[in-house]
Amino acid sequence: MNFEKKKEIFDNIYQGINGYSISHKGRSTMDTKDTKFLIYGEVSFTELLAIVENSGIKDKLDGLTTFCDLGSGTGMCLIGTALICPYFNRIIGVELVPALYESSLKSVQLLAQTNKKLANKIKVINGNFLKLNFTKPSLSPNVIFMHYPMHGMGAEELYLQLEEKFRKELKSGSIIISAIRKLSIPEVFPEILPPMHIQCKYGNVTIFFHQKV
Ligand SMILES: C[S@@+](CC[C@H](N)C(=O)[O-])C[C@H]1O[C@@H](n2cnc3c(N)ncnc32)[C@H](O)[C@@H]1O
Repeated sequence: MNFEKKKEIFDNIYQGINGYSISHKGRSTMDTKDTKFLIYGEVSFTELLAIVENSGIKDKLDGLTTFCDLGSGTGMCLIGTALICPYFNRIIGVELVPALYESSLKSVQLLAQTNKKLANKIKVINGNFLKLNFTKPSLSPNVIFMHYPMHGMGAEELYLQLEEKFRKELKSGSIIISAIRKLSIPEVFPEILPPMHIQCKYGNVTIFFHQKV
């Protein structure tokens, strides 16, 4: 399938979907203790393609087969990754806001109408990624993507909790691609490529590439 066809499939799936408003409405029906750190933003098909093709990361993915987006929103990165990265066997999304999770399920169903094989690789979980056990065989991701899922006062503590989880539960050699916030323990998660700058809908974003030792 050529690039234009992939982009057309992606654009058809996401036509008319406004993740910002789904997130906003979805969060308003949730308990504020669960939503105070949540933030929404998207990486579209073109931005994802730029990360994969222009950063050098593609050469580092040999043998890594399970991609996981922590805070998967409407599933844009899941669908985009399925289309752009045929080498992943499993593509997992984790999203806390039920309305975003449901929207992502609809997108996967739409993908299934044009390409069932790609859609079958995708699994989305409605839950809190801080509470998952990454060592479970049904998860066991070895490529993590996180697009700044938490922000505000107190969020840094959650990022440190997440890094501790990565330290204990991810296999050595796992790649962690993180937008905006660099991981804080360079001895365990050294950067393996220079940071990359991409232009998202909401502004300029720096992407950091780490690999667990
Ligand atoms: C900036 S958005 C990124 C969406 C998508 N990954 C993308 O790049 O297009 C971050 C997402 O993480 C979700 N999120 C934040 N904390 C979470 C948690 N602890 N567990 C699951 N999802 C979470 C938010 O609801 C939001 O949808």
